[in-house]
Amino acid sequence: MAVAVTAAAVTTAYHCCSIASPLRRLPPRRRLPPTPRASGDVEIRVCTNRTCARQGGREVLAALAGLAPPRVDVASCGCLGRCGAGPNVAASVAGKGAAVFGHVGTAARGAQLLEHLLGAAEFNATTGLAVLAAKEKAETSLEKGDAAEAEALLTEAIGLNACGGVHLVYSSRSKARLTLGNISGALEDAVDAIRIAPKFTQAHLLHGDALFAMGEYCLAEDAYADALNLDPSIRRSKSYKVRVERLQEKLACVSSST
Ligand SMILES: *[C@@H]1O[C@H](CO)[C@@H](O)[C@H](O)[C@H]1NC(C)=O
Ligand SMILES: *[C@@H]1O[C@H](CO)[C@@H](O)[C@H](O)[C@H]1NC(C)=O
Ligand SMILES: *[C@@H]1O[C@H](CO)[C@@H](O)[C@H](O)[C@H]1NC(C)=O
Repeated sequence: MAVAVTAAAVTTAYHCCSIASPLRRLPPRRRLPPTPRASGDVEIRVCTNRTCARQGGREVLAALAGLAPPRVDVASCGCLGRCGAGPNVAASVAGKGAAVFGHVGTAARGAQLLEHLLGAAEFNATTGLAVLAAKEKAETSLEKGDAAEAEALLTEAIGLNACGGVHLVYSSRSKARLTLGNISGALEDAVDAIRIAPKFTQAHLLHGDALFAMGEYCLAEDAYADALNLDPSIRRSKSYKVRVERLQEKLACVSSST
């Protein structure tokens, strides 16, 4: 009985989707405009080859990605030489040249490097690290099921006005708010994360999740398609497959009763 009621509610509200096509075969609906790149572009490459990986290269890569302002492009790379003096990090600042930095083995060293490259006026290492730590603590709380504590920590982190990693904080809070049932709050946070970092795939997935929770299945489908556009490799991930299946179930309700 409850199932029938749900299906009927869905039928009356949603006729907009191209429900015959499975989500994964839909052509991209809207191409996202490329992110405008600032003139003082900064690229950071962290060696994750064997020796550097043993010295913490992957952890430093994650920390740098969590600290960096959107105009800084952070990625992994192969051997930069100087094996044993790592983790080694190559950095280039447009117009200023490039250099390799050794012994960047902790988040604190990563933050110092960013402050050095961008200048203290643009990047405050102390604030960046405080926000990174709060986000990590919040994610642990969320995993333990304490979404309220996670939400409070993330709200505090947003208040610190860091210059980088803020899209990650909004994304985490979006997740926490969705868990708490604050769907409109979750949607707002996902939209803010996309505004700060339009190419951040996870934010588009969370945008889709909030829309799904609102019963906006067609818009959720669009948001998932945006995520897939940005990173086609997510198609193989379990979490993406779960999202698609859940959405198709809803869309199947519409097609079977119309
Ligand atoms: C990684 O290091 C090994 C030697 O330890 C080297 O043979 C290989 O070419 C390196 N790979 C890259 C991508 O730099
Ligand atoms: C960074 O921020 C902290 C806390 O807001 C402040 O005390 C410190 O002076 C700032 N550092 C720089 C170099 O601006
Ligand atoms: C839900 O999120 C909004 C922000 O969009 C916030 O203002 C509100 O306090 C939150 N509601 C609850 C019940 O936490």
